[in-house]
Amino acid sequence: MSETKAKSKASEIREKHARYLWPSVADYYQEPTALQSGNGLRLKDYDGKEYLDFFGGILTVSIGHCDPRVTEPLKAQIDRLGHVSTLFPTLPIVELAERLARLTPGKLSKSFFTASGTEADETAVALAQVYTGAQEIIALRHGYSGRSMLAQSLTAHAPWRALSTQIAGVKHALAPYCYRCPLGLKYPSCEIKCAQDIEELIQTTTTGHIAGFLAEPIQGVGGFVTPPPEYFQKAVEIVRRYGGVFICDEVQTGFGRTGSKFFGIEHWGVQPEIMTMAKGVANGMPLGVTIATPEIADSFKKLTISTFGGNPMSCAAANATLQVMEEEKIPQNSEKMGARLRAGLEEIQRKHPKILGDVRGMGLMQGLELVVDEIGGDRTPNPQAVGRLFEETKKRGLLIGKGGLHGNVIRISPPMTVGESEIDEALKILEESFEAIGG
Ligand SMILES: Cc1ncc(COP(=O)(O)O)c(C=O)c1O
Repeated sequence: MSETKAKSKASEIREKHARYLWPSVADYYQEPTALQSGNGLRLKDYDGKEYLDFFGGILTVSIGHCDPRVTEPLKAQIDRLGHVSTLFPTLPIVELAERLARLTPGKLSKSFFTASGTEADETAVALAQVYTGAQEIIALRHGYSGRSMLAQSLTAHAPWRALSTQIAGVKHALAPYCYRCPLGLKYPSCEIKCAQDIEELIQTTTTGHIAGFLAEPIQGVGGFVTPPPEYFQKAVEIVRRYGGVFICDEVQTGFGRTGSKFFGIEHWGVQPEIMTMAKGVANGMPLGVTIATPEIADSFKKLTISTFGGNPMSCAAANATLQVMEEEKIPQNSEKMGARLRAGLEEIQRKHPKILGDVRGMGLMQGLELVVDEIGGDRTPNPQAVGRLFEETKKRGLLIGKGGLHGNVIRISPPMTVGESEIDEALKILEESFEAIGG
């Protein structure tokens, strides 16, 4: 038997992955897990080991892996009509646009479809610039917008930026990151100074006429940084006074993830003029959406096209996913299961108060910030502990995510169809894993 045949399929995949793909594309686990199949919240690797998935392909598998309520209409659509480009109207694209106009808050009702969150944000910024005639954009430190040149400039994380920022006119405001308040203040006596600072940022670093403010209701890649409830009202009021529109990036927070509402921003009492979505909208099929008010959308009069944007397959998957979400009241399940998850995580924090510095998030978007010694007042980020915890959880069959500027925040975001027994199973594994790393 040849040497290659003797190796397991899993190690063959890992070896080829290391040889033929960029090293930047995988950084989870000492030995990456080669996954072969999925069903609901369960994934199986090529060694036959099963995992409970509490990261959902980065908050993307909204209603579970390979759900036939999505795969069947998707297969039917592939057999009927796979691609025509956005030059032709199709039934799936208009059905989806109509559905999104109904589900999104306020006057948002006209969509442009692309194939990723990066493109959705890029499109939103271009639209804000066209509409306002201004160029400058306020983004947030610790925010993440994707991997194009503009998206990397909007993104405020050195580890995710390979080249220096090359788009002029992007200014980064302080993040509403209470656990590490950039102003050293405490909520609520801080009076949300991080939001107030946007006014000086505009006055001192821009022309005074801005195109917009792009922000996530909860910062995803940033480590589920959750703002104080008043933050967005204060920030957006300032932005509008200086001529800007509010671009709300719901790529991670959208579609029930934060619990009880379809969109994260609905918790914060502000209606955006432009909203971007991707990830969870189509349960894993590639789709980006930029939705705007009619007045703003109609200001974009030049030609623009996305060949794959809103293709019939992705739109069919999105329509099927959103139908399940509405029928099954997924935002309500997120709230209920999120509360159970949160209670369990806080219990773990009580048992491991030294390294588990902060538990934060909403609904089924819960983050754990690991530090060196919270009790002793040393909040130095502890990515080493996250690395050890990852190995322990993997060993016990649980997949989780990580984030944060220093990679020291665990991100927990299972498919939103999760039930009580799966929450309890994940909590048990997390508890055992914290015990094992001795934090
Ligand atoms: C908030 C946010 N916006 C935009 C993006 C970019 O999306 P994509 O990776 O689909 O280009 C991401 C990806 O993680 C994201 O989290």
